[in-house]
Amino acid sequence: MSGIRRAMPFVHLPQTPEGMPLPPLKSFLTDPGRRLKAIQDLQTGEKDILLNSYPKSGSHWVHEILSKLLYDEHTQTRMEDGFLDFVNDFSSLSSLPSPRLLYTHLPAQYLPQDHVKKGRKIIHIVRDPRDIAVSAYHHFLNVPQFERFFTRDWDEHLANFMSGNFIYGEWFNYELKYETFAKTNNVMMLIYEEMKMDEEKAVRNIADYLETPCTPAKAAKIASECSFSQVQERRKSGQFAFLFRKGDVGDWRNYFSGAQEEKFTLLFREKMKNSDLMKYYSKINSKM
Ligand code: A3P
Repeated sequence: MSGIRRAMPFVHLPQTPEGMPLPPLKSFLTDPGRRLKAIQDLQTGEKDILLNSYPKSGSHWVHEILSKLLYDEHTQTRMEDGFLDFVNDFSSLSSLPSPRLLYTHLPAQYLPQDHVKKGRKIIHIVRDPRDIAVSAYHHFLNVPQFERFFTRDWDEHLANFMSGNFIYGEWFNYELKYETFAKTNNVMMLIYEEMKMDEEKAVRNIADYLETPCTPAKAAKIASECSFSQVQERRKSGQFAFLFRKGDVGDWRNYFSGAQEEKFTLLFREKMKNSDLMKYYSKINSKM
């Protein structure tokens, strides 16, 4: 994809004090330290649920399932409504239905401290990083305001992703640290590929974690209503329609060259060697 012209030189992304790049959202561009502190200090309700993931891991999907499990048909919410990194003003969070569904991409150390310490519920979704790289590539291409910040060149984009020169930092480091965090906190870990294999089972497991009654018929109905095609249809005329792009497992094969695949596999094996995710992904994809 070389030969694609850059419209203008890239502008630096906002950062955390440790230098982790943050997305160019108004909240972080204005005063990243203030927003990070506001998130860490956020007081949550006893039943509030924190949804958390590295970008492009399938959080909208999980949000749709949670919303259907928790609220009636007139009270459905969108993930963007409780997105702590994105909302302009935290006062809007008080108008969310209870229990609130709150969401952040921030890594474990930046989660609302009160929520974590009190053992309130946290749901984390993980996805094959190769599909995340592809999904993020399209996300960046689709937001005109992002053009100043992100490359339009696939090879350069993938190199940035692999080196950790990426919003919310390096995927490997993020998920390794999360794995440790999840073992000592009240976290439900979901895997995108596993959910895709059995969407009804995913709904039942989430309902169990929420301690919400869910008959097999209800689980089947919610799984169907939250399937990619139905969500894409529901969201097709909204501002964020572009987020519901393909919803596939393995789309990375359409983008990675043979050399890129090989390099990525080696990096994954080296970085994730002792992790549970390594065991999982090598089981479902023998090449990883
Ligand atoms: P693709 O770009 O590969 O299609 P997030 O919600 O965390 O931003 O993740 C976005 C990814 O989840 C996108 O992946 C999107 O299409 C996919 N997605 C959204 N809704 C989904 C659903 N109901 N089922 C499966 N995948 C879904």
